[in-house]
Amino acid sequence: MIRIFASVFASALLTFTSLPQSRASNSADLGFELSRQLCSRCHVIGEYNRMGGIGNSPSFTWMVKSSDWRERFLTFYSRRPHPVFTRVPGYALWSDVPPYYPPFEITRDEIDLIVAYVETLRTSQ
Ligand code: HEC
Repeated sequence: MIRIFASVFASALLTFTSLPQSRASNSADLGFELSRQLCSRCHVIGEYNRMGGIGNSPSFTWMVKSSDWRERFLTFYSRRPHPVFTRVPGYALWSDVPPYYPPFEITRDEIDLIVAYVETLRTSQ
């Protein structure tokens, strides 16, 4: 099951990374897609899964209200619990603990896209 998830996931990621940079105007849309795939299992990421997520994960709509939300999202991979299952290429693995969630890799560029998406939650509140 995890294996199936991982391969579906890997091919989805490939689709993303091969998108041309000129699509930057759609960065919020791409950020939504990434959030949906990578974060929505735990976090409520907006209207998409308003009743979803898991109880101990703060919703994106709630987090964006804090003044340092951008900083928190840009560095989320170094903040608990993410180091256990999140890897950013070029950065040392933050944790040796065996992942309890299918591990994923995310690039700084992709994190920027997520930030662009989260920003839209801020203005739509
Ligand atoms: C396996 C579950 C899980 C996944 C997947 C996950 N998170 Fe989280 N995240 C959490 C939990 C739990 C917390 C609350 C941690 C705490 O309060 O100590 C959290 C907290 C955060 C915070 C606040 C961190 C802080 O210290 O201020 C941000 C930002 C965040 N997550 C972003 C993301 C993004 C972006 C993704 C997807 C790329 C993601 N998370 C994927 C479980 C998850």
